[in-house]
Amino acid sequence: MNLILLGAPGAGKGTQAEVIVNHLSIPAISTGNIIRESLRNETELGLKAKKYIDEGALVPDEVVIAIIKERLLEDDCKNGFILDGFPRTVPQAEALDAMGVVIDKVIDIEVEDEKIISRLSGRRVCKDCSASYHIDYKPSKDGKTCDLCGAELICRKDDHPDTVLERLRVYHDQTEPLIKFYKDRGKLFVVHGQEKVEDTTKLTLAAIEE
Ligand code: AP5
Repeated sequence: MNLILLGAPGAGKGTQAEVIVNHLSIPAISTGNIIRESLRNETELGLKAKKYIDEGALVPDEVVIAIIKERLLEDDCKNGFILDGFPRTVPQAEALDAMGVVIDKVIDIEVEDEKIISRLSGRRVCKDCSASYHIDYKPSKDGKTCDLCGAELICRKDDHPDTVLERLRVYHDQTEPLIKFYKDRGKLFVVHGQEKVEDTTKLTLAAIEE
């Protein structure tokens, strides 16, 4: 099954992607994670993307489209994949069509803006393996280090409240039009993402099984 997870920054796409990976045994592809990894490794892509990420802006379409084009050719995508954070603009969605990629379902996780701000200000991520936690909703065992690899937990630079507001503005302006784009194609499944993680997970899995 080829899936897209749509939703505002902090709606819980990454959290639900982890669950679907285990449920369907298909890979999750997060353009955000790929770009952050390039930043850590100081590759050409990372250096190009840094200023956009730090400002809460989108990385140019041609850059992320090239990333996805290459990633989808890998063997583990043969039986399906979950796109987390791509597409984020109508030209990116059109690029998927142009690649001949058939999307089965688009799951749109809806959460109000006010909730997003508290979720992202409490998020902590592992500086080495990128595992994601939340100080209230999903704390690590000691609150300071990663349960998986023991490295330090940090706050993502773009989770600062001012940058979150800009990311939300960009989301409403450039990504929200994709809701209509996929609704018109009969692919859209809306999931209420306001409540606990387990509640969103139930609705997400139900949408996949529908
Ligand atoms: P990216 O990493 O994709 O950021 P995002 O979409 O803003 O997604 P987030 O990781 O912030 O949120 P999420 O929805 O995955 O939420 P999560 O599950 O972590 O992109 C970063 C940047 O890269 C972009 O700003 C852009 O510059 C660039 N970029 C990436 N893709 C691009 C593209 N296609 N085109 C152009 N530029 C691109 O949850 C958030 C927190 O809430 C966590 O702490 C979690 O534990 C907690 N939580 C989750 N669900 C719940 C719940 N139900 N109740 C309580 N807490 C919850």
